[in-house]
Amino acid sequence: MNYSLSAGGKRIRPVLVYAFCEALGGDWHKAKSMACAIEMVHTFSLIHDDLPSMDNDDFRRGKPSCHKAFGEDMAILAGDALSVLPFEIIADDVCLSDGQKVRIVSELAKAVGRNGMIGGQVIDMENERRNDVDEKNLRNMYRCKTGQLIAVSCVMGCICAGADDEILKTASEYGFRLGLAFQIVDDILDVIGNSEELGKPVGSDREENKTTFVTLYGVEKAQQIADSVTAEALECLLKIPHSDFLVRLTEMLLKRKN
Ligand code: IPE
Ligand code: IPE
Ligand code: MG
Ligand code: MG
Ligand code: MG
Repeated sequence: MNYSLSAGGKRIRPVLVYAFCEALGGDWHKAKSMACAIEMVHTFSLIHDDLPSMDNDDFRRGKPSCHKAFGEDMAILAGDALSVLPFEIIADDVCLSDGQKVRIVSELAKAVGRNGMIGGQVIDMENERRNDVDEKNLRNMYRCKTGQLIAVSCVMGCICAGADDEILKTASEYGFRLGLAFQIVDDILDVIGNSEELGKPVGSDREENKTTFVTLYGVEKAQQIADSVTAEALECLLKIPHSDFLVRLTEMLLKRKN
């Protein structure tokens, strides 16, 4: 668990928790358990995503994947443990009210579960055996496998700041759009990126027979779609006060090299 969590990574999801909490006038120190929780869930998703039975990738975050370092048995179990520890640390957090905890646990569980990240990974695996995957299917899969964890990061930051339901809805819409752009850029980097910079293999999608925005439309058009989805995400931020940092982060993620 510690090996994969401390291997690095961009920490985008915890940054979103803190950024939304701060933008809405909350005390970001009180969002620490949520920031740690979302990074744990995300790391669990990566450990399982790399397993031979899934994407079969040997490198992650610049180091051998968890199963390469510790074996498949321990990688499955490390992922399992990282899927429940987030709920323990939120329940035990002394900074949050009971009402906030219940709301956070509910939102996080939905974002992870059968209609969330895990459901998206199910579609991803099923799609490997299909050759009729279209844009609608991909958008739905990305909304689940990537969008849900990014959207709930934004939502948790809002809950910590005590924001109202209207703001939570806007934060969630922003997160889904950012998540879609983020996954399209990830698809592009799998084709034109550099494995040293990425800290993970390139060409993995092709090897696993994935349909992506790049296989559907080519790199250039995929980039244009990522640009326009990013513009939609930026539009959502117009409704969030003090969003200058979030605007810069959103723009930076579109141009990232890792
Ligand atoms: C990788 O996520 C998985 C996707 C959703 C594309 P990140 O690109 O955020 O991975 P780390 O946390 O920086 O390693
Ligand atoms: C990952 O999508 C989504 C997860 C829920 C882990 P990818 O399979 O494209 O992520 P990478 O490229 O391995 O990081
Ligand atoms: Mg995958
Ligand atoms: Mg993968
Ligand atoms: Mg990828």
